[in-house]
Amino acid sequence: MNLLTLSQLNPTQRLALLRLATTLASSATSNPLLTTARKRLAHRSIALLFFENSTRTRASFETAAAQLALHPLALDISTSSTAKGESFADTIRTIAALDPAAIILRHADANAAHIAASHSTAPIINAGTGTKAHPTQALLDAATIATHALPRLNLPAADPDQPFQHLRIAITGDIARSRVARSLIRLLPSLGAELSLVGPPGFLPDRFALLGFPIHRSINDALTTPDSPPHILYALRVQHERASHADDNAATDAFISTCAIRRETLDKLAPNALIMHPGPVNWGVELDAALANDTRSLILHQVAMGVPTRTAVILAATGLADLNTQSQSRPTT
Ligand code: CP
Repeated sequence: MNLLTLSQLNPTQRLALLRLATTLASSATSNPLLTTARKRLAHRSIALLFFENSTRTRASFETAAAQLALHPLALDISTSSTAKGESFADTIRTIAALDPAAIILRHADANAAHIAASHSTAPIINAGTGTKAHPTQALLDAATIATHALPRLNLPAADPDQPFQHLRIAITGDIARSRVARSLIRLLPSLGAELSLVGPPGFLPDRFALLGFPIHRSINDALTTPDSPPHILYALRVQHERASHADDNAATDAFISTCAIRRETLDKLAPNALIMHPGPVNWGVELDAALANDTRSLILHQVAMGVPTRTAVILAATGLADLNTQSQSRPTT
């Protein structure tokens, strides 16, 4: 199966993927599902087509592939025949003809994953497309929350189908241009979390109010919401490379002065409140550099959770894990 956006997964499949990721995180390489998968995938490759830069996503997909004994077919786009004018569709058809177990794709075009799927005989896994979707980032964030945040927050017991019930998350940053935000907005409420969005109008236009989440124009407003301050502050990177408006610097200045997370901001929250960020971080912009080594930061846990989460996604995409069970993914027979 393809993983193009989270909207293609029903609630059972999302929960199954989350549970598989957290199970793999706790059982590391000893999980019997991995042993079965390694036998089935022996001598296969997995293609990595990164038309945009990446550190975390690419490195964790390569590590996940290694755990599954898959050979990484990592195309260097800058030296590929793309530079001779070969079309995106022909590149996808060419790589698919080599019969990889899946094609992992990052691209600046928001529709690239869907276009690739229409030309590929191999499953397509979206590793971040334009400003539209970054489904594996949202999944690894959910797995990080389940594994590292919930045990520290002492929330009331949650409905098993809504594991993030009672959890409040405020997302602050360049939301309009963030594919991570779009995937988080899709996933976290479906797991029971209460979201609020924080940003100046340049980063969070009024149209986002149509989504139905509370909108705050300053981080202080988000923190002083009576009786319901967030448990997690999730910061997003200011994406100058996707600047689409002339007043980008003014929007960034407005964001830094009103919506960035400083150490004093965090100190106003409960002592067990946490911060997250998908990386790479612009330290001193969306997050105070003083928070880099703060124990309330889950950022490196997010990076580490990329491996079991992307392993789970590869297993699902290659048909080696069945997501259509309520309780737990298991090997297909
Ligand atoms: N979060 C994220 O996608 O990081 P990279 O661009 O480094 O992969």
